[in-house]
Amino acid sequence: MIRLKNVSKVYQIDNEITFYALKKVNLEIKKSEFVSIVGPSGSGKSTLMHIIGLLDRPTSGQVFINEKEVSKLSDNEISDIRNQTVGFIFQQFNLINKLTALENILIPTIYCRRKLNFDVKARALDLIKKFNIAGKENSYPNKLSGGQQQRVAIARALIMDPPVILADEPTGNLDSKNGEIILDLLKKLNKEEKRTVIIVTHDLDIAKKTDRIIKIKDGQIIGYE
Ligand SMILES: Nc1ncnc2c1ncn2[C@@H]1O[C@H](COP(=O)(O)OP(=O)(O)OP(=O)(O)O)[C@@H](O)[C@H]1O
Ligand SMILES: [Mg+2]
Repeated sequence: MIRLKNVSKVYQIDNEITFYALKKVNLEIKKSEFVSIVGPSGSGKSTLMHIIGLLDRPTSGQVFINEKEVSKLSDNEISDIRNQTVGFIFQQFNLINKLTALENILIPTIYCRRKLNFDVKARALDLIKKFNIAGKENSYPNKLSGGQQQRVAIARALIMDPPVILADEPTGNLDSKNGEIILDLLKKLNKEEKRTVIIVTHDLDIAKKTDRIIKIKDGQIIGYE
């Protein structure tokens, strides 16, 4: 499903020092896998997630989605693939405060350039019901609890029905009870709906709930568990 070959991400600091945020990473994530990427702060987890999710391009190396090399496509082509393939969940929820919960969930449908063959609003309301936030569709994010905001964000990630869900520290801003609810939800998206779910975390206890742990340190994969 997703394959990285010799992927490096290099930052030039002061035009002098070359810093490798990722160094020759080789990685394969299969369809319907439930995996976590674990490593200390600064190890390159978010950088790796941005490259897997087609939000960023590697400095060198190749990225394949379903054996199609995306690293050589144009920005527009990559955006289209991203829009149809990946749903993102972030630690800070990243909701737009001026939009209601329902409007936030609909954002990815606005960025889609092809005609959608489903009723976007009906699907959004279904997701709202499914994630136990019925009645909150017209509320603004600042009127919602952290757990509710993250469930709105998950609904937004799912509105385009993507086969892949990428979550960067999805429970980082939640108390343990809400964290567990979100983790259970992500697990269900994998086990029941067969989506590929990738969770980035520095918390080994969260990682242990996934089926495979990818360990990263100093921009390199140092092992699996
Ligand atoms: N735009 C940039 N310019 C220079 N260095 C950067 C840039 N973005 C990231 N880095 C560096 O790359 C390294 C990896 O960053 P990354 O955000 O991937 O870490 P992380 O594992 O997600 O950390 P955290 O757990 O704190 O979120 C860090 O050392 C960071 O300082
Ligand atoms: Mg990070």
